[in-house]
Amino acid sequence: MSIETALLPFSLNGKRAIVTGAASGIGKAAAQLFVESGARVLFADIDGDAAKIAADEVGADSAACDISDEQQVELLFSKAKTLFGGVDVLANVAAYRRKADTMAMPASEWDRMHEVTTKGTFLCMRQAIRIMREQPEGGSIVNVSSVSAQHPTIFSNMHYDSAKAGVDAMTRAAAIEFASDNIRVNSILPGGTASGGAAHMQSEFKISGPMTGKGRIALGRVSEPIEQARAILFLASPAASYITGHQLVVDGGYQVS
Ligand SMILES: NC(=O)c1ccc[n+]([C@@H]2O[C@H](COP(=O)([O-])OP(=O)(O)OC[C@H]3O[C@@H](n4cnc5c(N)ncnc54)[C@H](O)[C@@H]3O)[C@@H](O)[C@H]2O)c1
Repeated sequence: MSIETALLPFSLNGKRAIVTGAASGIGKAAAQLFVESGARVLFADIDGDAAKIAADEVGADSAACDISDEQQVELLFSKAKTLFGGVDVLANVAAYRRKADTMAMPASEWDRMHEVTTKGTFLCMRQAIRIMREQPEGGSIVNVSSVSAQHPTIFSNMHYDSAKAGVDAMTRAAAIEFASDNIRVNSILPGGTASGGAAHMQSEFKISGPMTGKGRIALGRVSEPIEQARAILFLASPAASYITGHQLVVDGGYQVS
């Protein structure tokens, strides 16, 4: 067997994919890696202009979409159906990424966090499942959670930790409920990653908490977005054909250190 044949299952050759949050950071890295590995990809983001720039870099399609808005999500998936004829892979990467002081945050901040990060992920998953269950080959969904859903990382992030724990619960529930439709549902749990969103948070807040302690990240550094994107690609690809309901921690050893 040639190396190309052996590695084919690790690619998305011929697959049709939607990636949310594709304008920046992990989502952009994943969407571009999907294209490089042979998929047709629709880059989706609330920032439609930035999504278009990211998609143009690899000759892909893009769409503006606020994942917390059901109508916009429906339009996004019908655009993918029109462009590609179906959807084999959904990477749910978009999230609301703003820290907020636990004692002072207005309830509206809590609500927006869950509206985007939890409800938005649900709406996209549900729309993908509606399409995938009509396809004999089913499909694969990868949700991007966070290591902080399982273990606190930084302070002033309680609303985010809660929203991501919801994403993990939905990943497990959907994996069970739609396995008979040949739909796999997994998630990755990134640790600290040098993305646009993380840099923005750092400029707004002094970051403190357990993850910032000396020696807490065993590998001694945060990750690059491409290192998270590769984990998403693996779970999305046929190489992970017997993996569902799994939460893959990609945190440089933070949780075990
Ligand atoms: N960077 C980290 O340290 C880290 C750690 C753990 C988990 N994560 C998770 O990884 C994912 C990507 O994070 P990132 O650091 O690359 O962030 P990022 O801020 O660089 O990118 C997030 C993208 O999501 C988009 N977005 C925000 N709200 C949206 C909405 N309502 N609808 C559609 N798009 C929307 C933004 O415009 C942006 O392009 C997120 O789910 C995040 O929670 C990141």
